[in-house]
Amino acid sequence: MSQHSEKRPLGIALLGCGVVGTEVARLLTEQGGELAARVGAPLELRGIAVRRSGRARGLDLDAQLFTTDAESLVRRDDVDLVVEVIGGIEPARSLILAALEHGASVVTANKALLAEDGATLFAAAEKAQRDLYFEASVAGAIPILRPLAESLAGDRVRRVIGIVNGTTNFVLDRMSTSGTGFTEALEEAQALGYAEADPTADVEGFDAAAKAAILAGLAFHTRVTAADVYREGITEVSAGDVASATEMGCVVKLLAICERHDTPDGEAVSARVHPAMIPADHPLASVREAYNAVFVESEAAGRLMFYGPGAGGPPTASAVLGDLVSAARNRLSDVRGVGESVHAQCEVLPMGDTYTRYHVAIDVDDRTGVLASVATEFSRHGVSIQTVRQEGRGDDAQLVIVTHRARDADLAATVAGLAGMDMVREVTSVMRVEAEPE
Ligand code: HSE
Repeated sequence: MSQHSEKRPLGIALLGCGVVGTEVARLLTEQGGELAARVGAPLELRGIAVRRSGRARGLDLDAQLFTTDAESLVRRDDVDLVVEVIGGIEPARSLILAALEHGASVVTANKALLAEDGATLFAAAEKAQRDLYFEASVAGAIPILRPLAESLAGDRVRRVIGIVNGTTNFVLDRMSTSGTGFTEALEEAQALGYAEADPTADVEGFDAAAKAAILAGLAFHTRVTAADVYREGITEVSAGDVASATEMGCVVKLLAICERHDTPDGEAVSARVHPAMIPADHPLASVREAYNAVFVESEAAGRLMFYGPGAGGPPTASAVLGDLVSAARNRLSDVRGVGESVHAQCEVLPMGDTYTRYHVAIDVDDRTGVLASVATEFSRHGVSIQTVRQEGRGDDAQLVIVTHRARDADLAATVAGLAGMDMVREVTSVMRVEAEPE
């Protein structure tokens, strides 16, 4: 008799049977023997909650497992672990809270819910003395949340820079390699199945902002919500911006940047999502197509990079199953894993108080004193210029200015000031420049 068969089986409820849920159900059934050996007891699927009845595509499962009554499923006495892969705020939040209240541990991939109302979920898990695991919520298959919460728990993380949205990385990569504009690149991404029919959550940066909130919370032991994250999407990135980046030896990426700051009062943190130019020799610049990567800078460990597929059924299911095995082991040993860690309670800085560099391209009249006036506008706002390039084109010229690091609010005021100057015909491109060359 094998060791695990001496333990009682653990019952699993699966909420949602879309792209990820189907893969979770498949792995649970096809790899049942191995999972049982790793956990120490069989994992038995008790039910799968779906919106409409009917069997999941391609799954050889008992039709009786499927139910449209998720509320009853999470409250069943024979359910020990609930996997939530429905997404969105409701009914996911109510179902997770009901599951915890009823004594089940929960594994979720729900970044939007965690970023909006993680505090309520963590409080419920604490009260119930159950696990709430969510590795799949950020960067799909890439193990990044457990390393931040556990492997780096003895270190001090200073900065996390991530490419955490595959759709936008695919679009920007296409713009960079083919020279196309945003709209054409997005259409190509949609035709190839990399972008949703409604791409708003991805291209406007909402998906990445939710992930930034989760990363910042874990990295800095501070509660950070989606509302704390500054967000700019990629819809305004033009073929000209991408060409400018190439000329500077850079590439454009949508970055999630979480930083720890030393302030006169102690420490603060910030989290932001926006397109930025990064040097072509930075490790994140080589993250192509729909791949994700997270670059972590910590005081003792130094620089770490986590890379891999950030979306898709099997990769996301891999992260869910990893959490499920941990939660199941904990149930058998009657212990809990790491709960929420927000002891630092740092202030979250507004975007205006963060420090960045800017790349500004301006069409100006080509006449005496223009360059001096433009430079004066930068210095008026305390922004130091690092490089200036000018190209004459008849009676006008293009100025491309890259600044040193400065307060974002001062940079924004400089750009507003430039736009109001008589000799400035148009500010054609403004983009932040991030990360140092390696
Ligand atoms: N839509 C996301 C992406 C995956 O494109 O990376 C899920 O968060």
